[in-house]
Amino acid sequence: MATTPANSRGTWNTKLGFILAAAGSAVGLGNIWRFPTVMAENGGAAFLFIYALLVFVIGYPVMVAELSIGRKTRKNPVGAFKALSSNKIFTLAGFWCVICGVAILSFYVVIAGWTISYFFEQIFYYFGMFSLAEWVSNIDNGWLNVGVALLFMGITISVILGGISQGIEKAVRTLMPMLVVIIVILIVYVMFQPGAGAGLREYLVPDFSAINMDLILAAMGQAFFSLSLGMGALITYGSYLNRKENIPEAAAYVTGFDVGIAFLAGMLIMPTIYMAQAEGLVIYDDAGSLVAGPALIFQVLPELFHEMGGIIGLIFGGTFFLLLTIAALTSSISLLEVPTSYIIDEHNVSRKKAAILVGGVISLISVFIAFDTSLIDDIDFIFSVIGLPLGGFIICIFLAYIWKTENAKLELEQGFKNLDNHWFWPVWKVFIKFICPALIALILGTTIYGIF
Ligand code: PFF
Repeated sequence: MATTPANSRGTWNTKLGFILAAAGSAVGLGNIWRFPTVMAENGGAAFLFIYALLVFVIGYPVMVAELSIGRKTRKNPVGAFKALSSNKIFTLAGFWCVICGVAILSFYVVIAGWTISYFFEQIFYYFGMFSLAEWVSNIDNGWLNVGVALLFMGITISVILGGISQGIEKAVRTLMPMLVVIIVILIVYVMFQPGAGAGLREYLVPDFSAINMDLILAAMGQAFFSLSLGMGALITYGSYLNRKENIPEAAAYVTGFDVGIAFLAGMLIMPTIYMAQAEGLVIYDDAGSLVAGPALIFQVLPELFHEMGGIIGLIFGGTFFLLLTIAALTSSISLLEVPTSYIIDEHNVSRKKAAILVGGVISLISVFIAFDTSLIDDIDFIFSVIGLPLGGFIICIFLAYIWKTENAKLELEQGFKNLDNHWFWPVWKVFIKFICPALIALILGTTIYGIF
């Protein structure tokens, strides 16, 4: 991170650096673990269709909103809301963002820990150490879960301690393309396996009768989770963004990249689920619902690599889980950065103390989750599916009616000179003022009404 005298907060080194870091935050377990799992639970292609629609109709406009609030105020979400309004409700909303970050990260590290476990599983399996391979991949082993989750948390904290390090920019620049290449090769391989065709059909041929309110809610939650929206991660990342940069353009790259990787991941994992089923793995129960839950991809993917066999299986399996760990790391950094920058900015604590304090608290919560992984679904529902869109709703209302779109325009114009004559401006204004908050409210409202 380059630090300029005029702004001790520092900024991203280059435009590409920022896009890579934001894409690094977006692309993570959400794309490769959460997206296929939620899709498999929600009718395949119909889910994909609604998800893609919501990404562009709600996700992208909210991303532009978060980045402009962050760059304007140069603050964490709590500080940003405080800087633009004295209304205490929005300070509370900022706290909600911080709480969502803490809650999501506390289960995120457990899943990320599994990516580490499975990296080793691949190695042990290749060398014929089958009992060790089985031991390290037993995701019901609480102590093992704790060990790998804390290891992952330790790595996340150490990156955060270096500030918004060049490390993120560099890592993402080389590793993301690698992840894409590996996924594409795997897709080609899987397509030739028995059962894959049925999976591909399930993924790409929508059955629109499967669309219901649960599916729409799940798709909205997935859009927010995957794009890192609704908890101020991109307010915080925007706070390090140079004023010369074109926010709508950067956001378009990040959105496109994130959706592209999720699409590819689905293209790999849906057919793999069916392939694994053809191999005899039980994926659906008699009632037709998924038995595997959060562990789904960790059950079917190793199957794929073992099927490839030999050194090829090891190379693909090992590299895949390693890259997945790193993709999770570039996301967990942004999750931890939100509560950390809040403590630094608002309580005047050093970065080191803040990161260790917040990381310590989250680690403690993650220990409980590591022992009872059934908690993941509930925490995910409350904080990702409900919490993030709620945050997104507040961000829209805040920008449109408190800060006001005309002020956001002044901020956006700094890096987007002909904004006034561009179609983006009137369209985005209508979305952020009316369409996004109304849609989010409608989907959340219907759900909450349904619960009671
Ligand atoms: N977008 C990340 C992923 O897809 O794995 C997860 C995430 C990061 C969610 C940051 C929310 C967030 F603020």
